[in-house]
Amino acid sequence: MPHLHIKEFKDIEYPQIKDDVEFNFLATNANHKDEKLISVKVEDDSFFLLVKEEESRHLLKTDKLTRPASIYNVHKALLTYASLAELDVLTSNVPTNSKNIHLEEVNALKNIEYFASSFPTDRDVRIEVGFGSGRHLIHQAVNNPDILFVGIEIHRPSIEQVLKQIAIQEIDNLLLLDYDARLFMELVPSNLVDKIYVHFPVPWDKKPHRRVISTSFIEESRRILKVEGRLELRTDSENYYAYSYETFIAFNKTILHINKNREIAISSKYEDRWKKMQKNIYDVTMINEEESEDLSLQGNFNFKTDNLDFDKILNLHKTTQKFENGFIHFERAYKLEEAIMMRISMGSFDRPEHLYLIVSKEAVAYFPSLPLKSKSNLLAHQKLSEILNG
Ligand SMILES: C[S@@+](CC[C@H](N)C(=O)[O-])C[C@H]1O[C@@H](n2cnc3c(N)ncnc32)[C@H](O)[C@@H]1O
Repeated sequence: MPHLHIKEFKDIEYPQIKDDVEFNFLATNANHKDEKLISVKVEDDSFFLLVKEEESRHLLKTDKLTRPASIYNVHKALLTYASLAELDVLTSNVPTNSKNIHLEEVNALKNIEYFASSFPTDRDVRIEVGFGSGRHLIHQAVNNPDILFVGIEIHRPSIEQVLKQIAIQEIDNLLLLDYDARLFMELVPSNLVDKIYVHFPVPWDKKPHRRVISTSFIEESRRILKVEGRLELRTDSENYYAYSYETFIAFNKTILHINKNREIAISSKYEDRWKKMQKNIYDVTMINEEESEDLSLQGNFNFKTDNLDFDKILNLHKTTQKFENGFIHFERAYKLEEAIMMRISMGSFDRPEHLYLIVSKEAVAYFPSLPLKSKSNLLAHQKLSEILNG
């Protein structure tokens, strides 16, 4: 990830704008003064830069949680801050001219708000979860030019690699998203998707709650798939296959096709690796037969503010509140000039959302954007509003 090592951190005046980068405020970790967050906005991208004190130097990089859509915007924010604060840069891996990457990002890399507000519905849609090297995804997009492909990944270098291929091969029917696919599924309109590919997901034998395939993932898949639409799982892990089979078959009226060592048109990077090791490849394809109801989620993310107490809220740091089907965990606390900020995770156990929350005397707001409007997030939000008001 792009970063600068600097001799020492120097603060600036907030808010201010330089070279189209807005610097809005500074938040200091209430428990570890050596960690600070700088709020920046470049074009429509709002995110934090993270400052960390290290032995005899400081590190300035992007905050993972606020995940800006554009890597070019991160480069620009880092370099602009360094010049504005006249930082003494010791080492840097930030290119000084990354405009070309930006062109690819603007066209193909979308943020979650894009899908939440205007999911493209004018063409057949296929989704690949965890596309890795992108070999299968690119092959599919090139061979099906009339279908829109959406590739979802949480590994940034894989996304950048595929963005380059999109530019080189001039692919115009492929959108990428840097996001947890399990949450993404909840905002896709019903009965839209032709195919969902989950190829060689991480088996997570020791942390099964991190698996992509789960009861709720299958439920959402059934909702978003068209009649005759397919969810295609390929795995080299016999254990993951057995777990997935059990999870699929627990649904009433399920059509499953099971294959072992089926050859498909393109072998992914992981598939090649497992084949070389002579491992078996298991295929589970679920075919959806039923039309689903339209997606409708009632509720909002407004907060009550009648009884806010800063000290009590700061004390929530490192506590967890569990309730039926969900939880809220207060991970970190920050102090701002006239407000406080909490870093929280909340929602369902297998698809938690990670966010910041800014609490001032007059208002409480998620930052930089609202949680996804999902059943579990709306429920967790209600609980959160109650907890904050004592
Ligand atoms: C073992 S790799 C397989 C990559 C590719 N499908 C292949 O066959 O070569 C699994 C990929 O899934 C991604 N991944 C894991 N959990 C994810 C999630 N919840 N949402 C999106 N991507 C995820 C990982 O970053 C990783 O790149």
